[in-house]
Amino acid sequence: MSEKILIVDDQAVVLRLLFHPLEREGFSVITAMSGTEALEKIQSEKPDLVILDIMLPDISGILVCNRVRQSLQMVDLPIILLSGRTELEAKIEGLEAGADDYVTKPVDPKEMIVRVKTLLARTQRLRQAAPPPATPSSGRSQQGIPIAVIGAKGGVGVTTLVANLSAAMAVRGHRVAAAEMRPFFGALARQFGVKPDATIKALLEMAPKSINETQVGARLAPALNGLQLLLGPQQLLDYREIQAEQAEAIIDALVRLAAFVLIDLPHMPSVASRAALRSAQIVVLTMEPDAGCLDSARAWLELLRAWGIAESAIKLVVVNRIQAVDVLNGVELERILGVELLGTVTAAPDLAVAALNRGKPMVMIAQTALVTTALMEIADKLVTLGIKAR
Ligand SMILES: Nc1ncnc2c1ncn2[C@@H]1O[C@H](COP(=O)(O)OP(=O)(O)OP(=O)(O)O)[C@@H](O)[C@H]1O
Ligand SMILES: [Mg+2]
Repeated sequence: MSEKILIVDDQAVVLRLLFHPLEREGFSVITAMSGTEALEKIQSEKPDLVILDIMLPDISGILVCNRVRQSLQMVDLPIILLSGRTELEAKIEGLEAGADDYVTKPVDPKEMIVRVKTLLARTQRLRQAAPPPATPSSGRSQQGIPIAVIGAKGGVGVTTLVANLSAAMAVRGHRVAAAEMRPFFGALARQFGVKPDATIKALLEMAPKSINETQVGARLAPALNGLQLLLGPQQLLDYREIQAEQAEAIIDALVRLAAFVLIDLPHMPSVASRAALRSAQIVVLTMEPDAGCLDSARAWLELLRAWGIAESAIKLVVVNRIQAVDVLNGVELERILGVELLGTVTAAPDLAVAALNRGKPMVMIAQTALVTTALMEIADKLVTLGIKAR
């Protein structure tokens, strides 16, 4: 049975431009010229995918998108937004309203066909995805799984990854803590729009043996249901070097407070990072897919081995921050580095900016976006690995 595509645009010329190319690809194509007509056809015709213009004469495409996402039966209906060049804000609003992709006008039918096919395939995979692994019991005496995340070099997206993976795990119903183990300036608060009233600073003024569950628990900032944050220092005067024993004591307390503990480490080695990495059950090395980052990833791997981190504990995540063409392939990097690849995070520059500006991780504001699928898959793999490692 051919998949049904609904194109919504008030300009007949756009409908014509897309109608035949999509039909020639074997899709059954229907059209609507207003928001109201679109909502009616979505109900009555049950399309498999909607191409939706933002600027419609009656109700906006954003509102249509919102209505669709609020209805339980259609919550995962794939939607591609069409927008004019000047409508960046609308585009972000659209992604927040739950659109899966967007295309800027003038539309190229060939590009649209590729996007339609990719999105349909992704939706298919999502629907077939296995249910999430069971949550490990999270009693206070239970030992949680510490997962350390390091960047092969600075600015590769570690904090973004930690924010999104911990949010993804919390969404799956796990009890999670995300901790920023850095002596200077934490960026995690911004990712969740949390006011950084309590930070790690007070703990770094304590003797390691005084750092316990109660002390650490009192410095956690709630971010989402099931997710708490231990934030890095926020101000210049809060700069504190972290002692190795302090790092160990903090992680020791955190694993008693949460089932999964994600530790955001700076990209430069330190005694505190070494202690944190040695305490971790899984070490996620994060890199961008270019030759420069490959060099630093190799250097980090050598260091991790020298520090006695078990080979099997080290996993790789590749983050694309820009849509570059000439990138190294994740599977190739896995082979070159000899480290298991957990996944590749797709580039989502607009979404990454919107997420930061709005203080909500990408997985929360664009639930069916490609980048969210990738992040959710990595989070699920970590949960499975963590439970196995117990
Ligand atoms: N998948 C992505 N697509 C596009 N941009 C991204 C993606 N992931 C992260 N970014 C952007 O990359 C920049 C650096 O990200 P982030 O702060 O998470 O890196 P970091 O490794 O924690 O940096 P630092 O070394 O300073 O701690 C941010 O502007 C972030 O929004
Ligand atoms: Mg960071």
